[in-house]
Amino acid sequence: MDTQRTGDYFKDILDHLLEDCQIIGFDWRYLYVNDAVARHGRKEKSELLGQRMMDVYPGIDDTPIFRLLAQCMETRTSARMLNEFVYPDGSKGCFDLSIQPIPDGLFILSLDITEHKQAKELIETQLRRLAILRAIDLAILGSTDLRLALKTILEETKAGLEADIVQVELYNPHTFMIETAAAIGNRSRDMERISVSLGEGVGGKAALERRTVAVPNLADAGLAGPLIAVMAKEDAQALYSTPLIAKGTLIGVINVILRSPFTAPQEWLDFFETLAGQTSIAIESAKAFENLQRANLDLKMAYETTIEGWSRALDLRDKETEGHTLRVTEMTLKLTHMAGMTEDEFIHVRRGALLHDIGKMGVPDHILLKPGKLTDEEWVAMRKHPTFAFELLSPIAFLRHAIDIPFCHHEKWDGSGYPRGLKGEEIPLAARLFAVVDVWDALRSDRPYRQGWPEEKVREHIRTLAGTHFDPKAVELFLRVLTL
Ligand code: C2E
Ligand code: SIN
Ligand code: SIN
Ligand code: FE
Ligand code: FE
Repeated sequence: MDTQRTGDYFKDILDHLLEDCQIIGFDWRYLYVNDAVARHGRKEKSELLGQRMMDVYPGIDDTPIFRLLAQCMETRTSARMLNEFVYPDGSKGCFDLSIQPIPDGLFILSLDITEHKQAKELIETQLRRLAILRAIDLAILGSTDLRLALKTILEETKAGLEADIVQVELYNPHTFMIETAAAIGNRSRDMERISVSLGEGVGGKAALERRTVAVPNLADAGLAGPLIAVMAKEDAQALYSTPLIAKGTLIGVINVILRSPFTAPQEWLDFFETLAGQTSIAIESAKAFENLQRANLDLKMAYETTIEGWSRALDLRDKETEGHTLRVTEMTLKLTHMAGMTEDEFIHVRRGALLHDIGKMGVPDHILLKPGKLTDEEWVAMRKHPTFAFELLSPIAFLRHAIDIPFCHHEKWDGSGYPRGLKGEEIPLAARLFAVVDVWDALRSDRPYRQGWPEEKVREHIRTLAGTHFDPKAVELFLRVLTL
């Protein structure tokens, strides 16, 4: 090929190359542009050739890309650079530029890597979103507290969807209203007081129709009503609302608000709906836990009420004075508290004190209610009452830890008590403390076999039994409580 033909041959290749090729003269005029430059620049070749860059693209001489071109032009060096820009229609472009000095000026070859870049960004976004879903999973698993889980969900949703406000509203099936449960990013508290009927407004519509409702531009949507006033206060421009549904039941809606108009791409909407799914699970599992807790509490209350009922029945049979058992129970709890027993032991001490003489159920009336002194034979039966208590209570799991007082309240410090003749600290602390209280209250009360004693005499009696019948420390503590 001769030189002329070789030149035509290469020019022909350049003209039709998919990549942009252009030659810029020393005076910044376009000396050559190929078809791709015109296509990408969305200009005719004639609008470019012979024109100066800064006239075709006003302001370009103020950009980093131009500064690099100027440097290459002056120092006659090559360079590479990424050029990211926005087309007049708002879409983004990204080109990889190769700049080469030539005798006429600069030769520029640009590779369009817009799609590569978008693919990379999409992968990064997806990875970020996976991390967000994971964070929400952990928050749901790690917390039984709905407020706490919602807080994480709102924060992650706001970040993940690049939203300005996120709001969760819960459906109240009794009132058919949707009421705000939590919000983040709002400026005014009005946002947290929003409550609408099913079907009303954007959120209400999403809830009723069970689908995502999109308002990319609130100003154009022609909505009216009090909620729009709240939206205006928040400077809200776009609103997306999707229903929260768990096991087919509507539980609320989640609203995402932006302070600029926003047309959501499909992948954004998909992610929004995934987040709504997670939110539904979080709310559902927190509710299930709350219900379980309530059921547990109800059951516990039922137990305590039952025990109190038993103990009143026992008092009645024993012809105890009104409230003996409640009195000794209260006094015993004060003592155990002062003796440093822990909070979780209290419940057992309380139950034990309430049921301390439950074993007397096994003692016949003619002995229990005998107006005079007991015979030796009768004492044998009477002394069995702590053992009866043990037999009665030990099979009941929730009373197993309450057994110390009913079983050991007649043991004595010096080992002369019954049923087992335990000595000193072999006797459980709760029973040692309780024994003092029980004798004190028994002696102050009238019994079928004797009249109640005066208070001073009772105290004196208890004092003399320190170290024989009673743990001396228990007596000391008890006398201190009496003077409080
Ligand atoms: P209780 O009436 O609840 O009395 C509990 C404990 O208080 C008695 O345990 C005892 O340590 C003390 N106590 C009660 N009354 C007196 C009293 O008059 N004098 C003295 N020094 N201490 C008193 P204790 O002795 O193991 O008795 C256990 C249960 O046996 C009594 O429970 C009561 O139900 C019955 N009991 C005891 N003595 C008699 C009696 O003389 N006649 C009858 N019918 N029952 C008796
Ligand atoms: C809602 O807040 O759930 C309803 C929104 C509206 O009525 O516009
Ligand atoms: C909302 O859904 O929170 C209120 C927005 C509206 O006015 O529809
Ligand atoms: Fe007793
Ligand atoms: Fe008693």
